[in-house]
Amino acid sequence: MKLKIALGADHAGYEYKDKLIAYLIENGYECVDCGTNGPESVDYPEYASKVCELVRSNDCSFGILVCGTGIGMSIAANKHRGIRAALCNEPESTAMTRHHNNSNVLCLGARMISFERALELTNVFLSTEFDGGRHERRVEMLDKLF
Ligand code: RB5
Repeated sequence: MKLKIALGADHAGYEYKDKLIAYLIENGYECVDCGTNGPESVDYPEYASKVCELVRSNDCSFGILVCGTGIGMSIAANKHRGIRAALCNEPESTAMTRHHNNSNVLCLGARMISFERALELTNVFLSTEFDGGRHERRVEMLDKLF
């Protein structure tokens, strides 16, 4: 079965988001495009919520959010119960956040990293498994913080 990914972006991130969708579809993933789809200025929390709802409801396995820095998207996404969003800029912490935090949303900053790097981080994020074990308890504790 194809892994289903929800993607969302604001005006600063929509070009990366569109290119990521094309790449993911070409590589056998199913994608839900939550917008935005053009350069007109929009508000990133709206798109973070659309993606997070699809992940929270298990309609999608993972979410990817892109804004200028990735910071606004990660702040917004982490306000949703059950969402563990990680802002990633390099591959090592991208792998670790899957291994240890079981992160389910990847946040990227289109004004901070190249598209090639964004692609690399996406591949690392989607191909790395959660370690479970002692990390299970810690991840469960996160939802109790709400
Ligand atoms: C939009 O200008 C910018 O503020 C947004 O993309 C993001 O970087 C916010 O964190």
